[in-house]
Amino acid sequence: MADGDVYSGLPRDEERTFETILRPRSFEEFVGREGTVRNLKTWIAGARLRGEPLDHILFSGPPGLGKTSLAYIIASELEVNIKSTSGPALDRPRDLVGLLTNLRRGDVLFIDEIHRLDVRVEEYLYSAMEDFFISIIIDPGPHGRAIKMDLKPFTLIGATTREGLLAAPLRSRFQILERLDFYGADELAEIVLNSAQTLEIGLEQEAARLIGTRSRGTPRVANRLLRRIRDVAQAGGSDTITTDIAEEGLSRLGVDEMGLSDVDRKVLLCLARNGARPVGLKTIAAVVGEEEGTIQDVYEPFLIRRGLLERTARGRVISEKGLEAVSDYLGTEGRRQGGLL
Ligand SMILES: Nc1ncnc2c1ncn2[C@@H]1O[C@H](COP(=O)(O)OP(=O)(O)O)[C@@H](O)[C@H]1O
Ligand SMILES: [Mg+2]
Repeated sequence: MADGDVYSGLPRDEERTFETILRPRSFEEFVGREGTVRNLKTWIAGARLRGEPLDHILFSGPPGLGKTSLAYIIASELEVNIKSTSGPALDRPRDLVGLLTNLRRGDVLFIDEIHRLDVRVEEYLYSAMEDFFISIIIDPGPHGRAIKMDLKPFTLIGATTREGLLAAPLRSRFQILERLDFYGADELAEIVLNSAQTLEIGLEQEAARLIGTRSRGTPRVANRLLRRIRDVAQAGGSDTITTDIAEEGLSRLGVDEMGLSDVDRKVLLCLARNGARPVGLKTIAAVVGEEEGTIQDVYEPFLIRRGLLERTARGRVISEKGLEAVSDYLGTEGRRQGGLL
């Protein structure tokens, strides 16, 4: 098991069922993000009063913070159907046309990883989003004809971990942009307490708090840790997760007091060894053994948020605080090489 996976916030196939069980189904069950929730409730109420479909919404932020959950909650509040797909899955315009023409008035189309849409598919979305029609080109060639197909007004909800990669014409067609940020320890503790109840396992308040501080600000990670620690408890014949059990589970999983994972530490160590010299993303990825995109979407945002890493025009550098965080792991040799001694 690669520790990087445990804390990455990226969904994994084998936990689908588990995620479905723990996914919040209403705004009431959705912990935190009060500002976003308040806004969404207002826009939903307005749209319902006018009997119009909700404006298109783009959710952006690192994986595991609730983008997909919110899309489903919105559809359920609107009492409409939701069709779900993703950028990479929609590789032919024909697939998108099929989805769009099957939508009923007011339905939600959810496109995950929307920054990975094929450009040809994306172009169809422009008129669909703006004026609810698509032009289908039949018989391509010099005498090609396009037929216009009207669509039922619908709501597109897009989710992206990389807002910066979205083409400007696509981005500008979303009337509502909501950025999701990392969660605080209290919110994460509340999330695991709720999850423990659903999973019918006891969880002491203190233990919940401990898991909350070690989850990289990410609900998906918090639930994943809970699941692992539940195994530790049950294997030891306990039906309640105590602080001791939580401690044991967390240390077994390699998460440290600051809530940093192995990959976080590797990134910081790589930077620390370069002292004040900025390091490029490619180098970090190679040293750490993760994809560039994963470093950028998953690890970096958290390290930046915690003030451990800084992004400069020439690359990434470690902060004073970051150095402190990994000082125990930096051997004398490493510090000397990095010009820190
Ligand atoms: N605000 C929240 N309250 C409670 N649980 C949450 C919240 N946000 C995320 N989760 C949990 O984390 C899991 C992953 O959330 P998800 O919506 O799939 O994230 P994303 O789509 O941003 O990757 C959900 O299944 C749910 O268990
Ligand atoms: Mg998602």
